[in-house]
Amino acid sequence: MPQNNHNKHASTISARTGERRHDHEWPRPESMPIYQTSVFTFDDVDDVLEYYTDRPPGRYLYSRNGNPNVVSMQEIVAQLEHAENACASASGMGAISAAIMAACSAGDHVLLSREIYGGTLVLLRTLLHRFSITVSLADFTNLSEVVSSLTPSTRLIIGESITNPLLSVMDIKALADIAHDAGALLLIDNTFATPIVIRPIELGADIVVHSATKYLGGHSDVSGGVICGSSSFIEQANHVITTIGSNLAPFDAWLIARGIKTLPLRFKQQCLNAQTLAIWLAKDDRLQNVYYPALATHSTHHLAQRQFAEELYGAIVTIGLKGNRDAVNTFMRAVPSLPFAPSLAGVTTSLSHPSTTSHRGFTEQERKAFGITDGLIRISVGIENVKDLIEEIDAGLIATT
Ligand SMILES: Cc1ncc(COP(=O)(O)O)c(C=O)c1O
Repeated sequence: MPQNNHNKHASTISARTGERRHDHEWPRPESMPIYQTSVFTFDDVDDVLEYYTDRPPGRYLYSRNGNPNVVSMQEIVAQLEHAENACASASGMGAISAAIMAACSAGDHVLLSREIYGGTLVLLRTLLHRFSITVSLADFTNLSEVVSSLTPSTRLIIGESITNPLLSVMDIKALADIAHDAGALLLIDNTFATPIVIRPIELGADIVVHSATKYLGGHSDVSGGVICGSSSFIEQANHVITTIGSNLAPFDAWLIARGIKTLPLRFKQQCLNAQTLAIWLAKDDRLQNVYYPALATHSTHHLAQRQFAEELYGAIVTIGLKGNRDAVNTFMRAVPSLPFAPSLAGVTTSLSHPSTTSHRGFTEQERKAFGITDGLIRISVGIENVKDLIEEIDAGLIATT
């Protein structure tokens, strides 16, 4: 049977991910086996009909519709997010697509934070608009702009708990109130903050999504996505995932579950390293800007202080070089130990260039208006010794000046 971890600390929930789920079976492995099967067997037609009628827990039919590794991982993320339930998809984008499709119908409007992962904008602009779902952008750090951007058909408001790439923090409780007054749902992408720093559902958000490719997996070796919410919403979102076939594979669910075991440890160390690095960088006049929510100079620092747990502010630090793309190339070539890998959240530090990768789906004008310049580098801080990191980044800055 699954462990009852309700009311336990995140470290306990995470460490016990997938443990001793199958007490009725022999042998009893301590670590959850991988159910690498596309289908499950039945004794006869009565047996399969009983499955369809009763849906007994622990029984499965076909891995696209459900698999023990996927269900186990979903349960753990739901517990970490203090959500009623969760469902999983093959990627973060799979989760975001399914959540939007479950929430919206033709004619609905989605209000999106203007600071958002580029893929979410591209999904709405280039694909879902063909199904008559409209989208507009607003500055979610300005609540009156959010209110004035609502339309009578706004059904969903989408923001991020720490935005990509400028690391702004939004007032989730206020956004939830605005959404609910307008008869809309609030979806928060909690990929950058993780439930270790904030649990948006406790603040009133209806839906939380994760790119599990990032901190939940944590080792840059798997793609996945998770949606958390009420049981009734998760049923609808799971219907989208299983119907369109964007389900998570068993081995990938196992890898993500394995990653979650060390999420609190890893993420805390990454956040502490990021904070030390950001404080060091903030004093450096070779840089145009340093974005990190723990810094008093960050425009949403006070909100971060109020909302975030354990004085942790996430593990991404974004820097603006004084030059443009050439300066970025010079910096990257001078620090070969920090790979340019257009993702984030692995245990090793990596660099990304938002304007040419994650945010290339925005128009040049939008990027300029939102501060996503060509000189911006997003640093995903890992668990290395922070003095080594500072030395390496210093070498990059020396090269650019
Ligand atoms: C904040 C955020 N949400 C969602 C995604 C999409 O996740 P995936 O690449 O797993 O589809 C990303 C990817 O970088 C992201 O940064």
